[in-house]
Amino acid sequence: MPTGLQTIDEEHVDRIHAHLHGRNIVLIGMMGAGKTSVGRRLATALGLPFVDADAEIERAANLTVAEIFSTYGEDHFREGERKVIARLLADGPKVISTGGGAFMNDETRAGIGRLAISIWLKAALPLLMQRVQRKANRPLLSENDPEAVLKRLLAVREPVYSTADIIVESKDVPHSDIVGDALKALEDFLLSENAK
Ligand code: S3P
Repeated sequence: MPTGLQTIDEEHVDRIHAHLHGRNIVLIGMMGAGKTSVGRRLATALGLPFVDADAEIERAANLTVAEIFSTYGEDHFREGERKVIARLLADGPKVISTGGGAFMNDETRAGIGRLAISIWLKAALPLLMQRVQRKANRPLLSENDPEAVLKRLLAVREPVYSTADIIVESKDVPHSDIVGDALKALEDFLLSENAK
């Protein structure tokens, strides 16, 4: 039996499909915001393929993100990130989760603007800290003071993230709740776009 939430979601889903016109849905935001987890569930809810851009970069390089950083440096990683995201954007529709720095690249941001709807998963510092502490796979946070790094990155990135089409608050609630918020926000955005 479908629950009430699923029924509401189905209505959102039909309207979203009617107005998406082949565009991708791209999740942006800081490390620890929940982009991969929410993105995967959002794709399932919408019946779209899901791709994690960092996983694609790792597959293309046959190295982990941490190995790419330590062997070739961040610039090399960023170049791979730009190319992989351009390729992923070219054959939509799908849901794409991106690494926290991806949207900071002008070309990537422009590509997302043309070929996708962007959703910023916005999370406050304490929640990000709590989440990133669970995994030690993020090269930018391998320094002594990850909180100071996150704070510095947030200050630089939030003004750019805030140019996303949609902002969804990532709170300390089950990811399925955030997916519900994202579906609703997506539907509202697409309908308002249509009304213009
Ligand atoms: C980065 C975020 C990471 C990964 C890389 C750099 C960043 O992805 O792309 O470690 O610059 O914020 P997540 O946001 O998925 O952790």
